Amino acid sequence: MNESQKNSPKKERRKRLLIRGFLMMVVLLSVFFYYYDESGLSLSNTSDNEVEYFDIEEDTERIEKGIHLRTGFVDAVGMQEVINNCTNCHSAKLVTQNRMSKEGWIATIRWMQKTQNLWDLGDNESIIVDYLAEHYGPINKGRREGLKNIDWYTLK
Ligand code: HEC
Repeated sequence: MNESQKNSPKKERRKRLLIRGFLMMVVLLSVFFYYYDESGLSLSNTSDNEVEYFDIEEDTERIEKGIHLRTGFVDAVGMQEVINNCTNCHSAKLVTQNRMSKEGWIATIRWMQKTQNLWDLGDNESIIVDYLAEHYGPINKGRREGLKNIDWYTLK
């Protein structure tokens, strides 16, 4: 056994300590820079980030082909009131996948008010109900209306 090997346990410990310290520093630095970047304090590309966030927010409120992309609602009078009052507790999809008459929508609202703590919609209620009945009304209106004003002819 030579001298260096005799010292090795101490050296090993020192080496391990050094490596551990180095790793700790790397971790701390990455955490620091991660939050430094997120905080917007970093000098690099602050404005770039802001533009990006702004664009994303703008995107979600985009309307394409008459549909509000984020919620899937038909863009029309009353949509904003519906978004403000009807997407807080459940997704917009629960609304858009339903089709009801005006009375049906009012009954659903009353049910939620009675059992689910839905608030009093005040003046917005008629706006909301009109919007829902118009754009999420029943598709199947029952039997086809009887034919009128037909020029019947007799087969020869
Ligand atoms: C205070 C919370 C809350 C708000 C606000 C709210 N709802 Fe609801 N709604 C609920 C809960 C809870 C349910 C039941 C969800 C479930 O069954 O998973 C529900 C269910 C529904 C359903 C499904 C009913 C059924 O028979 O399956 C529809 C449609 C609906 N809501 C429409 C609306 C509309 C329209 C609005 C806006 C006027 C609205 N909700 C606002 C809580 C709310």
